[in-house]
Amino acid sequence: MEKTFLMVKPDGVQRNLIGDIIRRFEAKGFKLVGAKLMTISAQLAEQHYAEHKERPFFGELVDFITSGPAFAMAWEGENVIATAREMMGKTNPIEALPGTIRGDYGMTVGKNIIHGSDSVESAKRELSLFFKDEELIDYSKQDAIWIY
Ligand code: GTP
Ligand code: MG
Repeated sequence: MEKTFLMVKPDGVQRNLIGDIIRRFEAKGFKLVGAKLMTISAQLAEQHYAEHKERPFFGELVDFITSGPAFAMAWEGENVIATAREMMGKTNPIEALPGTIRGDYGMTVGKNIIHGSDSVESAKRELSLFFKDEELIDYSKQDAIWIY
């Protein structure tokens, strides 16, 4: 089954949104397979955001994501990568629709609450950056027969 990497960014942690964000993905029917609260090192932040290295906001992005604890999660389910991106809303909260996480809680592109992998390749890469194999739990849930 498909997996994705989602992370409540330091602004989301400070604004007490971890519970609400977990609730949304649980209620949708996705399965939590890994989670941890962590302070991201500059080295990990630079690896995670390597694709943005040349962007003018790269330094700001790394400073922000390392500025306090973030909540890293692995979620599993059919089409979880694309669906999670829809549930997060557009990168810039000004464009994110109400009902999405960024649409409901975000105000600026720099502090947009949540990160989510944008493709199968980036999900694989990001999950392996943030989690050891043994930290991803392989289990079944009884609700699956009512979801699929
Ligand atoms: P992520 O899930 O966080 O990767 O967001 P995204 O995939 O919707 O956007 P993208 O990968 O293009 O950008 C990564 C992150 O960089 C965004 O989530 C923003 O937090 C940040 N970012 C993008 N554009 C700007 C900008 O112009 N200024 C600042 N400060 N941050 C930006
Ligand atoms: Mg991205």
